[in-house]
Amino acid sequence: MGLMAGASTLRALGAPMHMAMPAPKGNSLCKHAVADQAVVPKLLDPARLTPFVDALPIPDVLRPQSGQTLRIAMRESSQRLHRDLSPTRVWTYGNTMPGPTIDARSGEAVHVEWGNSLPLKHFLPVDHNICGAERDKPEVRGVVHVHGARVPATDDGYPTDWFVPGQSRRQTYPNKQDAATLWYHDHTMGIERLNLYAGLFGMYLLRDEHELSLGLPHGEHELPLVLTDRLLTEDGQLYYPVSGVSDAPWVPEVFGNVMLVNGAILPRLDVQARRYRFRVLNAANGRFFRLSLHGQRPFMQIGSDQGLLASPVPQTSLFLAPGERADLVIDFAGLGGTAIELMTDALPLMQFKVAAGQVDDTSRVPATLRDVPRVAEASATNTRLLTIDEYQDCVADPMLMLLDGKHWQDPVSEKPTLGSTEIWSFLNLTEDTHPIHLHLVRFQILDRRPFDVDKYLSSKTIRYTGPAQPPPPHEAGWKDTAQVYPGMVTRYIITFDGYKGRYVWHCHLLEHASNEMMRPFEVV
Ligand code: C2O
Ligand code: CU
Repeated sequence: MGLMAGASTLRALGAPMHMAMPAPKGNSLCKHAVADQAVVPKLLDPARLTPFVDALPIPDVLRPQSGQTLRIAMRESSQRLHRDLSPTRVWTYGNTMPGPTIDARSGEAVHVEWGNSLPLKHFLPVDHNICGAERDKPEVRGVVHVHGARVPATDDGYPTDWFVPGQSRRQTYPNKQDAATLWYHDHTMGIERLNLYAGLFGMYLLRDEHELSLGLPHGEHELPLVLTDRLLTEDGQLYYPVSGVSDAPWVPEVFGNVMLVNGAILPRLDVQARRYRFRVLNAANGRFFRLSLHGQRPFMQIGSDQGLLASPVPQTSLFLAPGERADLVIDFAGLGGTAIELMTDALPLMQFKVAAGQVDDTSRVPATLRDVPRVAEASATNTRLLTIDEYQDCVADPMLMLLDGKHWQDPVSEKPTLGSTEIWSFLNLTEDTHPIHLHLVRFQILDRRPFDVDKYLSSKTIRYTGPAQPPPPHEAGWKDTAQVYPGMVTRYIITFDGYKGRYVWHCHLLEHASNEMMRPFEVV
């Protein structure tokens, strides 16, 4: 399983896809005949940055009082990503990347007035050929979505509900759901990949009485770790790669030359020899992180996207796709006076420097965290078969990626009934793992099963080539984003609780989502 999932991280940027398929309709794919040359600026050599000299930044925490409206503005800022670099131009919620952490209580509504105080011109390459970013649209737009939140459609941050500099939107989050590690980020039609890359994301933690009663590490011993990667130029500025076609700069995937934790390159966190709880978020555009502690030191996973697992899962390595979260407990007891790195594959992300001496650790990780009943397959009243496709057409257009062969503008085809349970079976016909996310709902992974892709392409019939694999324990909890592996049918079981209205589902590789691996669905 892990092997297949790694494929997308290994593919070189912009490398052609193996699967050439006929253009779905029309010939609007052929926008350009010849690629001109992209001038790539000189990129930073990360080896010149001294590791572990900067303290891990911890975003400010906002704890809204009941009835209070938080005011958070998007603005241009500059932030020093490493001691040895000059400040980098970023776009932030509030003043920092990541933005402030919203710390909310289940059942208590939060109101946020999101302001747009950004400049009028984008500093990253907008592609006007992309659906939703045409030339008649203002270049700088923003709309905020709380990923994983169950909210009425009008407050969900629908991609076309964007607003421009000088405007704001008040959104209400009812928080009628279990404790979970949520996050907020830009979702603007056609430019979300650029807005997130610029820095528009932050954490949103939801707590409930049950979780608070468990005695998990908290306060200064509970910290967010927001993982991203970026391409930095030699002078420390963000570089967003382009295709080489000047009027169609979109590229299918972006991988950075530096990796950041909470907006810092190779930071250090001073810890005590005790347990810590880390809320880990992959907020990267396209990079999957394969996390481990140096020396394969074990850690505990206690939660995933939508809150606590049934019981803690011991891990030595964890593969996290863009959009996914993991709630981890690391015990530094016995490591006093040493340092240990958090790695992704063979590269360090940050260092934990453990203070010498014993501490009295009263935190606990109970053997039972919460009840996570498996949703019975028989409770589903509808099954949808949905393909994940990549189309390659003319030479200059790298590819087009679609969900179920449909464009964003095609009529809404997924209309589940409020309160009903459905199975969504994703047939991944591509070579990549796509993290597929649905707004509004939480779901469980039923299973993944290998099938014969070529046979499906030629005859539209599914021939399984192996048994169905149930999710491993760390993926058996509530999810809102999951890895849909190539050559497999991945089945989600989803109860459409919450609200009627129009939401979206999409791939969380942001370059895919913006061209056009995103579709509406409507709860009726
Ligand atoms: Cu992370 Cu549509 O969202
Ligand atoms: Cu994708």
